[in-house]
Amino acid sequence: MNKPLSIDIGIDPAQREEIANGLSRVLADTYTLYLKTHNFHWNVTGPMFQTLHLMFETHYNELALAVDLVAERIRALGFPAPGTYRQFAALSAIEEEDGVPKAQDMIRLLVAGHETVARTSREIFKSAERASDQPTCDLLTQRMQVHEKTAWMLRSLLE
Ligand SMILES: [Fe+2]
Repeated sequence: MNKPLSIDIGIDPAQREEIANGLSRVLADTYTLYLKTHNFHWNVTGPMFQTLHLMFETHYNELALAVDLVAERIRALGFPAPGTYRQFAALSAIEEEDGVPKAQDMIRLLVAGHETVARTSREIFKSAERASDQPTCDLLTQRMQVHEKTAWMLRSLLE
């Protein structure tokens, strides 16, 4: 069997590992938020049903595409991407709920979830910046933009 070619992109292995570990946390947060949003799409009730059911669908579709970009950046840095519920539960900073929250609580929980991914991304950004890892900086910038905008939109429903 051929020895795999080593990665030589101008980022040393220790920095690639640190960034990949950080991105694994972003992936776990994003996947957990994806599942929470899909769950709330299924189970939301009340006078805001139609609005929230459709809005949550738009959000979970966006999150489902985002996890792929994050996972593939981890692979490009030379590390395996986590891909099990067990790994995601261990890595994610987003808690899961038991039962079905009221519509207003779903909105609050999703605001908190989007803000959590924004915070994790902002924390990881520092390692990427230090390593001159522009593709990861670009990806994290885009993710922070989406999560902060979505948090604003959801928060606006509560006013
Ligand atoms: Fe659906």
